[in-house]
Amino acid sequence: MVDKEYQIIANNFDLAGRASSDIKRTLKELNINPGIIKKVCASSYEAEINVVIHSVGGYATFHIDEDEIVLDFYDDGPGIFDIELAMLEGYTTANSIANSNGFGAGMGLSNIKRSADKLEIESDEFGTHLRATFFLRGNQHEDF
Ligand SMILES: Nc1ncnc2c1ncn2[C@@H]1O[C@H](COP(=O)(O)OP(=O)(O)OP(=O)(O)O)[C@@H](O)[C@H]1O
Ligand SMILES: [Mg+2]
Repeated sequence: MVDKEYQIIANNFDLAGRASSDIKRTLKELNINPGIIKKVCASSYEAEINVVIHSVGGYATFHIDEDEIVLDFYDDGPGIFDIELAMLEGYTTANSIANSNGFGAGMGLSNIKRSADKLEIESDEFGTHLRATFFLRGNQHEDF
């Protein structure tokens, strides 16, 4: 079992992706199936960038045990006004700075939804908590 925690700094495009890189390295060291690593890293990168570009900062936790990998992203910020709308491909409120750094296609949340076995988002006007879970035993994909 491994647990890690990473700080995520808003609008810092130099450090953006640091948490996801460490998660990738950790999963490789643990010899996790490459297909699962790909899904987890795609999800963690999208969620991490969302904290960088849409919040005022936050942190991520990474947990792995023999059953599952759990990624949690907590941020302070404006929150997601309408989660259902935000999940739609192409919906974005990203600003021009995010755009000039290559983000803001409105694809992040839908990519996470597709990659994770379970995606839970709680958000209000003070911030957001996103949890993505990946099952490591058999086919337990939950659709909701
Ligand atoms: N942590 C967050 N805090 C506040 N709003 C968020 C957060 N994450 C997502 N959102 C809202 O949901 C929208 C859709 O997010 P999504 O990740 O799908 O696209 P994007 O970040 O705008 O672009 P892309 O991920 O393709 O670079 C965002 O534009 C933003 O309005
Ligand atoms: Mg995004």
